[in-house]
Amino acid sequence: MKKLTSETLRQLYLKFFEDKGHKIIPSASLIPENDPTVLFTTAGMHPLVPYLLGEKHPAGKRICDVQKCVRTGDIDEVGDSSHCTFFEMLGNWSLGDYFKEEMIPWSFEFLTSPKYLGIPVKDIAVTCFAGDKDCPKDEDSAEIWRKCGILPENIYFLPKSGNWWGPAGATGPCGPDTEMHIIRNHAAADKLNAYQFDDAPSGTFLEIWNDVFMQYNKTADGKYEPLKQRNVDTGMGLERTLCILNGKSSVYETDIFENAIAKIEELTAHTYDESEEVTRAFRVVLDHVRTATFMIGDTKGIAPSNTDQGYILRRIIRRAVRFGRNIGLPQGSLKEVSATFIAKYAEVYPELKINSARIYEELEKEENKFSKTLQQGIKEFEKVAAISTVTIDGVTAFHLYDTYGFPVEITGEMAREKGLTVDIAGYEAAYAEHQAKSRAGSEQKFACGLADHKEETTNLHTATHLLHAALKKVCSPDIEQRGSNITEERLRFDFNFARKLTPEEVAEVERLVNEQIALDIPVVMKEMALEDAKAQGFTGLFDSKYGERVKTYSIGEFSKEICGGPHAEHTGLLGAFKIAKQENVSAGVKRIKAILIK
Ligand code: ALA
Repeated sequence: MKKLTSETLRQLYLKFFEDKGHKIIPSASLIPENDPTVLFTTAGMHPLVPYLLGEKHPAGKRICDVQKCVRTGDIDEVGDSSHCTFFEMLGNWSLGDYFKEEMIPWSFEFLTSPKYLGIPVKDIAVTCFAGDKDCPKDEDSAEIWRKCGILPENIYFLPKSGNWWGPAGATGPCGPDTEMHIIRNHAAADKLNAYQFDDAPSGTFLEIWNDVFMQYNKTADGKYEPLKQRNVDTGMGLERTLCILNGKSSVYETDIFENAIAKIEELTAHTYDESEEVTRAFRVVLDHVRTATFMIGDTKGIAPSNTDQGYILRRIIRRAVRFGRNIGLPQGSLKEVSATFIAKYAEVYPELKINSARIYEELEKEENKFSKTLQQGIKEFEKVAAISTVTIDGVTAFHLYDTYGFPVEITGEMAREKGLTVDIAGYEAAYAEHQAKSRAGSEQKFACGLADHKEETTNLHTATHLLHAALKKVCSPDIEQRGSNITEERLRFDFNFARKLTPEEVAEVERLVNEQIALDIPVVMKEMALEDAKAQGFTGLFDSKYGERVKTYSIGEFSKEICGGPHAEHTGLLGAFKIAKQENVSAGVKRIKAILIK
């Protein structure tokens, strides 16, 4: 097996697929576009859903990338050897082009060739779909693997629970997959028959790559309908693969975290592997600071707040502060740890460097806010914990949140450390009573979902472009999108502006948008080189150096944006535009919610 650094692995992967006719595209933002059901991008395929469903991608039918991903379902697990809330996914896609016959031999070549990963064939096990009422057994994949040279005894079959991927939400593209694993314990693997993969003791196999053959669309009534096109969607976790290739026992021991670990050691006078407890605290700080750096530094950067993505960011930063305190990390250090990540990723994600001032400022502000009350809050918690036998009551949990800034999940974790639970229902009740603005809903949104192409959503998407253009005209030409979220009922648009709009400005923005709707202007899509789009004055979020051809949408001369679509064909379809609400997201970011009335 080749020992590789993160830089080399990214380059090798992209070059391999570029040589096979793929276009390298930039990582999409961590904040999904027009997808109300999910807070963060969770897999490489997520931003590509429209194209897997049949829309034409400007880069063509073969694409590959390294996608920034965040999965926050297991925040409390972070601290062990494998969980991370941020990770990078290497992926390649066939959008109605090649299929299994090409993909599997390519996977074999990349994994085993000494030019690439150089993994011995005998150490590779693969799993294929065992078949059920929705889709037949995937004998084809198994046969192709055999022909490549995978040993027949290392080919296993698993049902839907193991060898099926997607949809990312309740409905959408999905299909059988074949997963590639490194065999770490041959003696244990040798005891299994082709259907006993899941019976292996943990650590026998380590998953390294997943090839999904997306040929179905799961519908709302649970049916699997064949898609218009057969796609391939693959995903290889960068950190995990590095860890396996380099024979490390934890993702935190890869080159990605090296400089950050050295920095924390310098700041705390502790060493990373000093004791189990210290290692855990190091890992929490490492993971959480890295994730926070990417969230704030994203092209659609977010700031800590009490709702949605901002709440998750707040919770992550505060958890880092709490664990940092346990190893004596001085107040104000998070930004120093963050700086090591910004430097490490400078070439791949230039947005971090560009936004570094904002990253440091937000980290510092949040750290200072929480540090002020942390000690007092812990004291308060200890008092209540000492007299609680089973549960910390909801009113206390709310008091810790409201007065000391402890996200309830952190109180829950502190309670668990003492063998206690928190009365979450009681907390929610106390919260509902005290807060008009509820953050309810943010947790449900972790279930990943799909971009919605309903007429209402598409119209609201076009209305978002009109609103954006009108805000630039009425308020300031410097206004940029900081976030967008669209449901069937309303659009939500976040933008950089210091204050709420005055009633006169609101009326003028509405008037301008409604004027464009009344003029019934065609919405024109054109594909072009990113450079041309920039030169022609299209606005957009430029994620990285790899971008080449992009889709642009113009609405007369009024609005010109780089955007994946889809949009209404002409503005007359939209109905009457009305601003329903203004909100404060953070000091420099305001939010508008607006509706279309038919
Ligand atoms: N979408 C697949 C995954 O995330 C490749 O594993």
